[in-house]
Amino acid sequence: MAVFACGGASAQSDSGMTRQQAYARAAALEALGRKIFNDASLSASGTMACASCHYPNNAFAPNNAMAIQPGGKDGRQTGFRAAPSLKYLQAAPQFTEHYYESEDEGDASIDNGPTGGLTWDGRADRGNDQARIPLLAPFEMANADEAAVAMKLAAAPYADDIKRLFGADVFAEPHKAFNAATTALSVYEQSPAEFYPYSSKYDAYLAGRAKLSEQEMRGLQLFNDEDKGNCGNCHRSERASDGSAPQFSDFGMIAIGVPRNRAIEANADPKFFDLGVCGPLRTDLKGHDEYCGLFRTPSLRNVALRKTFFHNGAMTSLRDAVAFYATRDTDPGRWYPRNADGTAGKFDDLPQRYRANINNEPPFGRMPGDKPALTDGEIDDIVAFLGTLTDGYKPAAP
Ligand code: HEC
Ligand code: HEC
Repeated sequence: MAVFACGGASAQSDSGMTRQQAYARAAALEALGRKIFNDASLSASGTMACASCHYPNNAFAPNNAMAIQPGGKDGRQTGFRAAPSLKYLQAAPQFTEHYYESEDEGDASIDNGPTGGLTWDGRADRGNDQARIPLLAPFEMANADEAAVAMKLAAAPYADDIKRLFGADVFAEPHKAFNAATTALSVYEQSPAEFYPYSSKYDAYLAGRAKLSEQEMRGLQLFNDEDKGNCGNCHRSERASDGSAPQFSDFGMIAIGVPRNRAIEANADPKFFDLGVCGPLRTDLKGHDEYCGLFRTPSLRNVALRKTFFHNGAMTSLRDAVAFYATRDTDPGRWYPRNADGTAGKFDDLPQRYRANINNEPPFGRMPGDKPALTDGEIDDIVAFLGTLTDGYKPAAP
């Protein structure tokens, strides 16, 4: 549970609550948030909860292999992004266009560019802003407005919990009831036990309580090696200097040129492109061409549980996702269809004018026919290592 209202050593916090009261309120909010998260009656179809797309037993990611989870009034409307895991988001900084690392983390004078925020394009900053999106999106839970959600909350078995926590008159104004729900959801999403337990084999290894296999160890080295995977450059694998556990993301916005997913309905229109940070879902940075094609680097914790990979779910195996890094530039024909004129195609999900935004650092940046940065065996090693990032590791009995 997130204990955020504790006022240091003093027993009384700003809100006039004692520390015990603040703790009890946080626990009650968390329990309420869990109920709301799992409540399908809060959708227009009556069949879709947050948990339908963010399945608790699958690291809060989908438990099916569909790239896009259908939703909406009839359960058949589709958006165009893969549902991410909701774990380890507590570490995402608020979105900023100019991110500087702290003095002791790295070079504090380097502008790392746009970083942070929630969703693939960072357009929401807190869990409660974010939760508005699926509750109201026509292709997700599809409520017409806040009032429609408030009516459903008033009829829910936990309506009295909401009154107890937010006041007896909370249902008098739809906006208040709606905010109560999104607040409870965001508190729930900060529950350490469920959302950031740091209970993977790799965490046990860092704590000296587990040994990685030889293959996993090779994978870790390749993952970090700047001339090989160089994965750790963006998916940080090392403890921060304050000793905090690695998040396997620096939350930076990067374009890596993931292939177009032709299974997405919106992509039937050849003029439609999901450009990430410059739109269309994110609207405040529209016209910033330098941000087109950028998506937030996801944490790789629990990545082995995913059934589709990247913002558009274009790949369905972890091995392919890793192999893409190794051979995007050396063998583009493996990933991209040919152009209409028969020439070799590349970066088919980003209009030509934005392709200068695509990252070309290792393992990228080679030429067709060059030796890839990773051999097939090395790709397997990295995949084996990524398997150590799944929470719930139980050391074998001695
Ligand atoms: C129909 C499937 C679906 C449902 C239902 C759904 N989500 Fe999501 N969720 C998604 C998708 C897709 C994204 C990525 C959206 C984007 O990048 O624009 C997402 C993103 C998120 C994120 C941000 C994750 C990140 O990596 O930054 C959070 C938090 C979240 N959802 C919470 C919720 C909550 C809370 C609910 C219920 C109120 C909910 N979701 C319902 C599909 C769904
Ligand atoms: C330059 C930064 C960068 C480097 C280096 C990098 N990644 Fe990524 N990674 C990203 C970004 C950004 C995304 C999301 C891209 C998208 O969906 O458009 C991503 C997505 C992924 C995903 C999909 C995760 C998911 O939830 O769908 C996997 C798997 C992955 N990376 C593994 C690796 C591995 C393995 C390496 C090293 C071989 C690596 N990455 C190197 C930035 C990077």
